[in-house]
Amino acid sequence: MALTGKDIMEMVNGFQKSQILYSASSLGLFEALHASSVPLEGVAVANKLHTNLDATERLMNACVGLGFLEKEVDNAGTASYSLTPTTEKYLVGSSPMSLRPLVTKIGDMYCIWQKLSDGIKDGQCKLGTTLGVSENYFDTGSGYFSTKSKQLEFLQAMHTFSSMDAPSVCTAFDLSAFKTMCDLGGATGAIAVRLAKTYPDSHVTLFDLGHVVDVAHHFMPKPKPQNMSFVGGDFFADDLPPSDLYVVSHVLHDWREERVNQLLRRIYNALRPGGAILVFEKILNEDKNGPLPTLLFDLGMLIACEGRERSAHEYTTLLEENGFCDVAIKMVPQASFRDAILARKF
Ligand SMILES: C[S@@+](CC[C@H](N)C(=O)[O-])C[C@H]1O[C@@H](n2cnc3c(N)ncnc32)[C@H](O)[C@@H]1O
Repeated sequence: MALTGKDIMEMVNGFQKSQILYSASSLGLFEALHASSVPLEGVAVANKLHTNLDATERLMNACVGLGFLEKEVDNAGTASYSLTPTTEKYLVGSSPMSLRPLVTKIGDMYCIWQKLSDGIKDGQCKLGTTLGVSENYFDTGSGYFSTKSKQLEFLQAMHTFSSMDAPSVCTAFDLSAFKTMCDLGGATGAIAVRLAKTYPDSHVTLFDLGHVVDVAHHFMPKPKPQNMSFVGGDFFADDLPPSDLYVVSHVLHDWREERVNQLLRRIYNALRPGGAILVFEKILNEDKNGPLPTLLFDLGMLIACEGRERSAHEYTTLLEENGFCDVAIKMVPQASFRDAILARKF
């Protein structure tokens, strides 16, 4: 790929666009415009948001430039602003397709990414020095779950982007032969619910830390699938619910190698012969030249957890070293953040 000077300038200033989106979203700009049946003038928006009038108009003009808002100017030169259909769909909190929880996470992620150079120097996760963290950054009161509201923010963000991938990854393989499935680290159930709906003759257990399972109930569709249940526990320490298939979605890439091996061994030991593990992660090209979103995720995993992204060969080796065989890999281009890997216990 031949870069131009313009491309480089866009990267230099790329953070500004993220920050504008973050500020507009966290100040409630999109909700304020959504709540009005007519386009709003700057003064009306600034009054609603309790913000500075001149600065608010400048923020809205930038949002027009970025395509988030539309602007009309009357004969007297007064500007009024409204949402584009895309902004209505993806950035208003009440929309079923809302990406707002992900946008809200930009704040924390931006702090962590500022430590990238330090992470490259020492190869260490920077979550602890940025947000405060213990050995397990999913513990209550630490890391991503430092407060109840931070926990909810994290889980909502995960839910948003896991729900987008769930339909395509859950059908990447025909799983109907597995009558019991357990989604380890299943969070809010975006994947587990989709598995339960896709395979109505199977029973799906969502397993996650107790304090996450407590919250997961609030994310269940109504009615909740009948063939689903919840178990709270620690997958590094507690017995895993007996199952023909264990699913680990965006779990292996969170942890350092030693922890990944520990978890894979525990899954292997819990399975009966013929049982399987299903891994959902986005796979890096063998030459590690792409895909670009996965390369960016890989650096994110370095500094925000202690994990990494892997190539198909690396996942195969990892699974085989922990006893699994018949490793099958399906690339899932429809899913932005996940491909699928199925491996069996002989
Ligand atoms: C990155 S999220 C992935 C969520 C979900 N699998 C998905 O794809 O949307 C990792 C999940 O692992 C859970 N987790 C972390 N440590 C755990 C542990 N020791 N035992 C059980 N679950 C754990 C977290 O609470 C979180 O829900």
